[in-house]
Amino acid sequence: MIRKHYQKIVAAIYDPFMKSLEKVLTVHRRMLLEKTSGMVLEVGAGTGVNFPLYPQDVEVFAIEPSVPMYERAVKAAANYPNIRVFNMGIETVKNHPDLPKTFDFVTSMLVLCTIPNPKQAAQIYRDVLKEDGQLLVLEHIHATGSFYGKLQKFVNPLWRPLADGCNLTRRQDIILKETGFKPIFEKKFSLGTDWYEAIMTMDS
Ligand SMILES: C[S@@+](CC[C@H](N)C(=O)[O-])C[C@H]1O[C@@H](n2cnc3c(N)ncnc32)[C@H](O)[C@@H]1O
Repeated sequence: MIRKHYQKIVAAIYDPFMKSLEKVLTVHRRMLLEKTSGMVLEVGAGTGVNFPLYPQDVEVFAIEPSVPMYERAVKAAANYPNIRVFNMGIETVKNHPDLPKTFDFVTSMLVLCTIPNPKQAAQIYRDVLKEDGQLLVLEHIHATGSFYGKLQKFVNPLWRPLADGCNLTRRQDIILKETGFKPIFEKKFSLGTDWYEAIMTMDS
C-alpha cells in the first residue's frame, strides 16, 4: 500500500527530476534507438521517454510493472500507433499471450539498476532475442575502484528505497557479458556518475 503511493510520487517527479540529465542522455538514447527495426521489446519503459525516438515503422512492445509509470507510458504511447504498453515486469514476459515469442531488438535503458534480479533479466533478454537480435543498452554503472564508487557504496542503502529500488552499485556491463552478450559497440562516459552504452549481440 505504502509502496503503491510512493510509486505514484516517483512517477510524478521522474521526468522533472531527469530533465537536465536528459539533455545529454537523449543524444545517447537516439543514437541507439534509431538503429531499431522490426519488433522491439522495451524493458521498463517508465514514463515513455524513449517513445518519440523510435523509427515510425518499428513495432514496439513496451513493458512496465509500476502502475503509475505504466499509466504515464500508456498516455505517451497514444501518439504512436506502433507502440503498445503492457503492465508487467521482465520476469513474466515469456508467458504473455499478446507478446511475440522473439524480438529483433531488446532495449534496456536505466532499468537493470532497478530490476530485482539483473542476472535473471539478462538471461531473459537472451531467451527472447532472435538469434541475430541485438540488445541496446544505456545504464548508469558503479564507478568501481574510485573514490566516487566508494561514495556510491556508502549512499546506496539510502538511495535504493528513495529511488524505488534503483541501485548505484551494479556493473550491468559485466553482468551482460557474463550472460554471453558481446558488444559490437560499447562506450563508457561520465555524467557525474559513470554510464555504459552498448550494442550487443549474443555469443552462440
Ligand atoms: C529509472 S526507471 C527508467 C525508465 C526508462 N527506461 C527510462 O529510460 O527513463 C526504471 C524503470 O524500471 C522499471 N522496473 C522495475 N522493475 C522492473 C522489472 N522487473 N521489469 C521491468 N521493468 C522494471 C521501473 O518500474 C521503472 O519504471
